[in-house]
Amino acid sequence: MTPEELAAKLPPGFVLGVSTSAYQIEGASDLRGPAGWDRFAADPGVILDGTDALVAADHYHRMPQDVGLMKELGVDAYRFSISWPRVQPGGQGPANPTGLDFYDRLLDELLAAGIRPMATLYHWDTPLEIDELGGWAKRDTAYRFADYVRICGEAFGDRVADWVTINEPATLALEGYTLDVHSPGTALWVAGARAAHHLLLGHGLAVRALREVPVTGRIGISNAHTPVFAATSHWRDRFAARNFDILSNRVFGDPVLLGKRAPGLVGLGVRLAALPHWGDRKIIAEPIDFYGVQYYFPSRVAAGPPHVKVGTHDGHSKAMLDLPLRLEPWPEYEVTGFGWPDSPDLLPVLLGQLADRYGGRLPPLIFTEGGASYPDRPQPDGSVDDDQRIDYLESHISAVVDQVPGVEVEGYFVWSLLDNFEWAAGYTQKFGLIAVDPETQERRPKSSFDWYRRVLAARER
Ligand code: NOJ
Repeated sequence: MTPEELAAKLPPGFVLGVSTSAYQIEGASDLRGPAGWDRFAADPGVILDGTDALVAADHYHRMPQDVGLMKELGVDAYRFSISWPRVQPGGQGPANPTGLDFYDRLLDELLAAGIRPMATLYHWDTPLEIDELGGWAKRDTAYRFADYVRICGEAFGDRVADWVTINEPATLALEGYTLDVHSPGTALWVAGARAAHHLLLGHGLAVRALREVPVTGRIGISNAHTPVFAATSHWRDRFAARNFDILSNRVFGDPVLLGKRAPGLVGLGVRLAALPHWGDRKIIAEPIDFYGVQYYFPSRVAAGPPHVKVGTHDGHSKAMLDLPLRLEPWPEYEVTGFGWPDSPDLLPVLLGQLADRYGGRLPPLIFTEGGASYPDRPQPDGSVDDDQRIDYLESHISAVVDQVPGVEVEGYFVWSLLDNFEWAAGYTQKFGLIAVDPETQERRPKSSFDWYRRVLAARER
């Protein structure tokens, strides 16, 4: 399919954007408070290539250039995140004017370039002081977060078109609190379960805070979703798959969209660990205007003996899944740099599952992230031919616009604009449409940048 053919397939008004997050690109760590991730990444052996994000892609200092590149690309919208430790260095108290100023300038540049701003309020960069008090395992963090959100709403509420409260809370609760792969680096079931509830509460309080300000934009949340399949029809595999499905897809979907806790043992575990207060359920189910979905890979699950450590398929340095289940390979699919199966054909399955589960309660969907890492190799002249990324994006965007009854998809944001700090994988996994030279910070658009530019330019307006 040519870029023009893909453009012709897009429904009128379908939003195409790019996505980044503060911690992964901004750098300028001297101009913000410390983040829990700074401490986590400083421990030897934690980040695969021994790097950190103190400078990252230096976006803080190169923001006007990066917005210029987006303008050249021709995207409709840009999803970025606001760094809590930049706005409120210790996680509480008054705002840091330098921090606010950065996002003020970013918003003004975007609007001047005709790009619609989507701001994520929390993309995992917890202020260190909050982490030291127990992070999301503590209920108080949800209230601290809502205070920070109010500051952002008051400062930027006139210009942000779409707000995302929290990015992939399931990934944070699982990898950060339960499996010690991400910051804050605890490996406790009870911490993960408590964090899950408090992230939900933080989301609901954030929605209320933004509505009270009030902000002019729409409000949603971004959840990772993975369609889950049992490896065999044996009841043990089906049981393991059901639990994994609840853990990955429903702990954060059901309370937000249905006002109910997730079912089964997993839902019960969250309830028992977090001891929700009377009224939490209503706060969490505060109506939202759109639902952000992030799809990277499907999961094929088999039962495993409890607490046997097995490697996951994502290549993280310490990614050991301490769950009574195994994630099986998908030999029928090509894999990305992370080893994730490239499976666009399962996108309609995922959308169908969301429609079945949430029915009329499902607001319009936006794919707030989608993309792939590949071991891009620059040519001697510095150019990068990333044909695999082009194939990936073409097939995934093409699949999300295929109609699935009961689901309205409004847009797709490519992860990511720039190569960046890929958490525990450091800079080993590159997701960008633009390569960033780690020494000089020079930006080099890859062939996928050109391809996306052509898709964007060929659309009917
Ligand atoms: C989802 C996360 O939101 C983002 O931070 C990460 O870089 C991508 N997945 C790729 O792993």
